[in-house]
Amino acid sequence: MATKPIKRSWAEPFKIKVVEPLVETTRRHREKAIRAAGYNTFLLASRDVYIDLLTDSGTNAMSDRQWAGMMVGDEAYAGSENFYHLEANVARFYGMPFFVPTHQGRAAEHLISRILIKPGDYIPGNMYFTTTRLHQELAGGTFVDVSIDAAHEPANPHPFKGNVDLDKLAALIRKVGAKKIAYVSMAGTVNMAGGQPFSMENLRQVAALCQKHGIRLWFDATRACENAFFIQEREAGWGRHSIAGILHTMCAYFDGLWVSAKKDLMVNIGGILATRDREVFEKARNLVVVYEGLHTYGGLAGRDMEAMAIGMEEMVAYENIRARVKQVEYCGRQLEKYGVPIVQPIGGHAVFLDAQAMLPHLPREQFPAQTLAAAIYADSGVRSMERGAVSSGRDPRTGKNIYPRLELVRLTFPRRVYTQAHIDVTVESVANVHANRERVRGLKMTYEPQYLRFFQARFEPVAAMRKRRAATARAR
Ligand code: F0G
Repeated sequence: MATKPIKRSWAEPFKIKVVEPLVETTRRHREKAIRAAGYNTFLLASRDVYIDLLTDSGTNAMSDRQWAGMMVGDEAYAGSENFYHLEANVARFYGMPFFVPTHQGRAAEHLISRILIKPGDYIPGNMYFTTTRLHQELAGGTFVDVSIDAAHEPANPHPFKGNVDLDKLAALIRKVGAKKIAYVSMAGTVNMAGGQPFSMENLRQVAALCQKHGIRLWFDATRACENAFFIQEREAGWGRHSIAGILHTMCAYFDGLWVSAKKDLMVNIGGILATRDREVFEKARNLVVVYEGLHTYGGLAGRDMEAMAIGMEEMVAYENIRARVKQVEYCGRQLEKYGVPIVQPIGGHAVFLDAQAMLPHLPREQFPAQTLAAAIYADSGVRSMERGAVSSGRDPRTGKNIYPRLELVRLTFPRRVYTQAHIDVTVESVANVHANRERVRGLKMTYEPQYLRFFQARFEPVAAMRKRRAATARAR
């Protein structure tokens, strides 16, 4: 009798050696905590959080090899041994001969924006990222979104929503002229689009267009390995190539790149600015001394650079990147079973909840995604993050709120940190909030900082606001 082959699952390519206890809290405790945090999950104390899916940035578990590397940190002010190890690995994995370390990704963004952007320049990119765009604006530039339309449609299952729309890019070049374009910026697994990759073919075409017009092409390689994994899985002709090989091919199209090492590299801190352009490198090597530290440590300890160098060797291992992406996919599939609206396809680093679809009774001015993140925390102590109008901020010229088409909550997975059981608990909490979604009330912003407001803004429930106003009026 022929038997159906038994499905074979993947599993994490590691076992756990050190554990960190988690603390569960009561609903009452959490309601008090989120009120005190101004309904902003960034302002919660970590001790009040049960499962922390705020970000995958710097929250990763390092391997035993990385921890061993920390012990051979060479803490020399200049010429640390670990710098040379890292430099060799930047050349090996990203194919870039010149590099400076920075303390994290935005520091590299600061340097490259200062070096390449003149006031009045434009920087087209496959959707904005918060810190990237701010540094471009602070340098006097204007970011222009040239991502494909599908990237802005949560339910659209396009396999490469990180692609650049070549017509939009060509139109911008015609409109402002190639000289006014500081560089084209392309990010791997585009964060704000829901962790969506670009295809190798799209990259090839963008590079050809840039070359034709003499425009530089730079890479936000923060989550480049996830992008490489998706190319391997989804793009014809790449299935037999290694992650390292795909990464190398991708990087070959770019003039330079920056990396927040706190993601792909599975460390807690660090950044990279690397290029094949000697002139840009000379400027970066000089500027890094002003803002970060000497060019052989860039604001990092020697041990941090060693952990980065080893993390780079681990990030391209197929088993690691598969477990990482498939864990995120598992979470998304479970949420789908409960009918929770999520961005399709499921992203590389996070599952993005479609807050507008989930809370259609809330107007955009009441920040549905911010509200949803607070409600999930109150339900279970799971911490997520708003990625919608609060993150998007204001138009620097008009001062008006920007309401992006995507109003999302991000459940982001630190690498090698949580188990499938943690995901099940998370999914059940989101499903519970979804089942009771009509009861969720909106928020009003009561405090707004000048830059990157999502980090520190404060909110109050709309109903509470009305009550307080009425009480003040009565007191008068
Ligand atoms: N580029 C991308 C695509 C990012 O996601 C981040 C950070 C940065 C640059 C900046 O790097 O944080 O090291 O200064 N993203 C984090 C997140 C904060 O939660 O997505 P950084």
